[in-house]
Amino acid sequence: MRVLVTGGAGYVGAHTVLQLVEAGHEPVVVDDFSRGTTAAIARVEELTGRHVPVHAYDVADIDMLERLFDAERFDAVVHLAGVKAAHASVARPLDCYETNLTTTFTLLRCMAWYDVPRLVVSSSAAVYASGDAPSDEDAPVAPVDPLGRAHLMTEQILHDVVAAADPSLRVGILRCSTVVGAHPSGLLGDDLAGTPRGLLHAIAHVAQGRRDHLDVFGDDYPTRDGSAERDYVHVTDVAAAHVAALEALDAVDRPLSTWNIGSGRATSVLQLVGAFEAATGRTVPYRVLPRRPGDPHVISVDVSRAADELGWGARRGVGEICTDHWRWQHRHPEGYPHSATPETSWRGGVGHRLRLLQPAQSAQAGPLW
Ligand SMILES: NC(=O)c1ccc[n+]([C@@H]2O[C@H](COP(=O)([O-])OP(=O)(O)OC[C@H]3O[C@@H](n4cnc5c(N)ncnc54)[C@H](O)[C@@H]3O)[C@@H](O)[C@H]2O)c1
Repeated sequence: MRVLVTGGAGYVGAHTVLQLVEAGHEPVVVDDFSRGTTAAIARVEELTGRHVPVHAYDVADIDMLERLFDAERFDAVVHLAGVKAAHASVARPLDCYETNLTTTFTLLRCMAWYDVPRLVVSSSAAVYASGDAPSDEDAPVAPVDPLGRAHLMTEQILHDVVAAADPSLRVGILRCSTVVGAHPSGLLGDDLAGTPRGLLHAIAHVAQGRRDHLDVFGDDYPTRDGSAERDYVHVTDVAAAHVAALEALDAVDRPLSTWNIGSGRATSVLQLVGAFEAATGRTVPYRVLPRRPGDPHVISVDVSRAADELGWGARRGVGEICTDHWRWQHRHPEGYPHSATPETSWRGGVGHRLRLLQPAQSAQAGPLW
């Protein structure tokens, strides 16, 4: 299939593009490079030996998006462009809602105009209300921050559109838990620079000696060791889930499907610290601080539906997650080399323009190490 991947130069995006190529599909990336980088796509090209076309602009720009749909004949869309950081969505809720919702509107319009019948969208386990048992896809929803609410709104819009659309439209919603880890080659990973974002990034910062200890928020939760529990899933498994969902859409006997994507296991903060120390041989000192307001004590998802219907399951556990993350962060303490990121006219810039990165430009994406 010829697949448009929005946000394809980002963390989940680059891993998904890689696996689409490996599965014999033809991904085409559109990304505004607000976070992604062409270095990620250059590395996908290095790993696969295949050229991946990249268009640098805002998916919310419907004129440019329509030109792209007009020029290409897509069979499917994988929609990953959006805000990923919950804390940023609290600080800048309008940016979050605008990006996540507007990109969904423009995509759905173009898909309707150009008869593109398949869509896979990354949503989040953050849509669920917190509970002790792993949430299945029918569990109550009650997101606690703008990012979770934006994902839920996107899901609701998709339900309404599918209900009113041509029955040939097929939509897959992937409610992903906490995505971590990096490609085992050490070439692809989350583009993490500066202040740690996420627990594993913070743990690795301590292991690198960039901070002298880890802050653990709360050790008095009703969990196995008192620290909060989350479901950590390897990014390579998440990418595989996107490909599996795309390939399953035509066979599923309903127009819209929702699948949880996670490890199916809850891991506590202290367990993750222990797994990291065991995997890397580094010591991670920590201190315990009071709970943070709004932090649920546990988030975990039941992944049986994805196993039954997609034949998908997470293959990598926390040990492999820690090994792969450490390899990536140790080699790339400031993320990808950013000299490769093209000048773009993202939101707030002067107009929008289409840039198709030709192979020669992509190959100039900077040193790999
Ligand atoms: N990483 C996780 O733990 C996780 C968990 C659940 C859900 N998700 C969701 O998956 C999606 C991808 O997450 P990620 O971790 O790869 O994030 P990311 O920030 O690494 O990637 C998002 C990509 O989208 C691009 N982008 C943002 N706005 C755009 C726009 N308007 N037009 C074009 N490109 C745009 C960014 O430049 C970036 O390359 C997000 O919607 C996120 O909320 C992520």
